[in-house]
Amino acid sequence: MTEETRKYLAIIRERTDFVPKVALTLGSGLGGFADTIQNPIVIPYTDLPGFPVSTAPGHEGKFIMGMIGDVPVICMKGRVHSYEGYSPEQVCAPARVMQAMGAQILFLTNAAGGSKSTYHPGTLALVTDHVSLFIRNPLIGPNDEEEGVRFPDMTQVYDAQLREMIQKTAAELSIPLDTGVYVQLSGPSFETPSEIRLLSQLGVTLFGMSTVQEAIAARHMGMKVCCISLVSNLAAGISGNKLTSEEVEAAGKAAEPLFTKLVTESIKGMKNI
Ligand code: HPA
Repeated sequence: MTEETRKYLAIIRERTDFVPKVALTLGSGLGGFADTIQNPIVIPYTDLPGFPVSTAPGHEGKFIMGMIGDVPVICMKGRVHSYEGYSPEQVCAPARVMQAMGAQILFLTNAAGGSKSTYHPGTLALVTDHVSLFIRNPLIGPNDEEEGVRFPDMTQVYDAQLREMIQKTAAELSIPLDTGVYVQLSGPSFETPSEIRLLSQLGVTLFGMSTVQEAIAARHMGMKVCCISLVSNLAAGISGNKLTSEEVEAAGKAAEPLFTKLVTESIKGMKNI
């Protein structure tokens, strides 16, 4: 455990002995899910000195803890991104704290641009794999052997059992759920049409500015990981429209009811995983 993690954990443990099973990171415009938790325990990031606080639109900054069905969950309402100037270590600090509290599963969500022909704005897509080649790996630096191995395997970042359960849950709820391969790009500028064409030809279908560093850190720590992307917009050059963060947030709000239903029922399905 890093010094930082130990420090944050000590402050949290003065407030609560809550042990989460699932850690949920809410993406742009998707924070409303956190409000569905009954009798939540709330810890604002500002109560944790030095903890990275989001400056991005649509991101608050607090941990929200409580039960979804029989499953204890900690939600990150608001995440930090590399483009805000945060280091990979800072971007991954919340995932490390949630793991230190006991979380075994990291459930990531994000808003993404999409380039697959079956996508439209509002499509929910289960992430099957990612591309990390354009960002700094969060494990660069000395390795903490207690936490994980120096060269962690990334053959199956997004857990097959979790994916199967989420797909089954979506089918039972009659919620269409596509699939995709996600790339984390540095941002904050959106991509050019040429960048989208290039990466699409290489198999990428979902374009975003988050998620992958957190997924790598979580796998290194031995957490199971899953991710759902909301396709907030077709990627640059596909529809010809200009991209705006307002559009991304509005798509999040519009998708919230279905997204919340799928995430809630999927978390209930994590009880025995
Ligand atoms: N590109 C990168 N990140 C994004 C996009 C996009 O088109 N939409 C939402 N996040």
